[in-house]
Parts: sequence; structure tokens; C-alpha cells
Amino acid sequence: MSETLHPISVEVNGSRRAGQVPARLSLVDWLRDELRLIGTHVGCEHGICGACSVMLDGEPVRSCLMFAVQAHGRRVTTVEGLSRPDGSMSVLQDSFCETHGLQCGYCTPGMLIAAQALLDANARPTEAQIRDAIGGNLCRCTGYQQIVEAVQLAAERMKGPKTP
Ligand code: FES
Ligand code: FES
Repeated sequence: MSETLHPISVEVNGSRRAGQVPARLSLVDWLRDELRLIGTHVGCEHGICGACSVMLDGEPVRSCLMFAVQAHGRRVTTVEGLSRPDGSMSVLQDSFCETHGLQCGYCTPGMLIAAQALLDANARPTEAQIRDAIGGNLCRCTGYQQIVEAVQLAAERMKGPKTP
């Protein structure tokens, strides 16, 4: 018996994307396998590592823990959506390169999503706030220090107004 498909329509990186998906298809599998947005990585597949992080209506979520049907009518931003419209790297992405905030790069899409969500909400985060924001994302390579420095550098370059 063939599986029932459900129509979904999701704004992904600013474009409306429609599909027909099985109820149990994860959001990360839809993004990677159907939309070919393979910047979002799959690691643990049970909500621990953060490699699959995307933004859902501006908030970071684990796309391995969501079904694609749950994203219907919502706004999803993947790591591909963080770059500038001309495809060049964003200030944050560039800062990761400059501070050596990545080595193998497996955690990097999730780290970028977590860090961008933080900077969107708080343009001048403290080091503790940065560590807290990326605390749910595992990195086996960097020791985290360079990632913290990347976010600090990006915040400095964007020079947000100081919060009282
Ligand atoms: S792959 Fe989703 S949290 Fe690890
Ligand atoms: S750079 Fe390798 S896991 Fe973070």
C-alpha cells in the first residue's frame, strides 16, 4: 500500500517551496533530499548534536526532530539563507573563517544558525551569552574558543547598539 502524501508549502530562504510529503518525513530530510539544501547536516538524528539546526520563524530548531509537515505555512532559514543575496559570505560566516571557527566543518551550519539567531536577538552579546547560545551544538574539533571569537568578531563588525 502506498504511503499517504500531504501537501506542504513552506517559505525557505525567502522562496515559497511546495511539496507532497509522507507524514513521517523529517524536516531535515525534506530540506536535503527534496530541496537539495545539503548545507544542513545530519549528525545524531535525535536532537543532541545541533548539526541539523535551522531557523523556524527566526528561532533555531532541530530539523531532525521536526516533521516536514510541521513546517507547513512557516518560514525556514537554512545555512544557505545566511549568505548575502549575491551569494557571498555574511559577516558572521566571514568571521568564522577569519578566527578559524571551523575545522572539519560538520558542526558549522548549526553553529552559524545558533549564532545568527543570537545576533538577530542581541546584537552585542556577552561571552557568556554566546556560550549559552551555542551550548546545544556539539563541536568535536575546535574546543569552541574560536567559535566564540567568531561571534564576538561578527558582533563587533556589525556594531549593534548597546543594550541598557
Ligand atoms: S542531527 Fe539533529 S540534533 Fe543531531
Ligand atoms: S569543526 Fe569539526 S565538529 Fe566542529
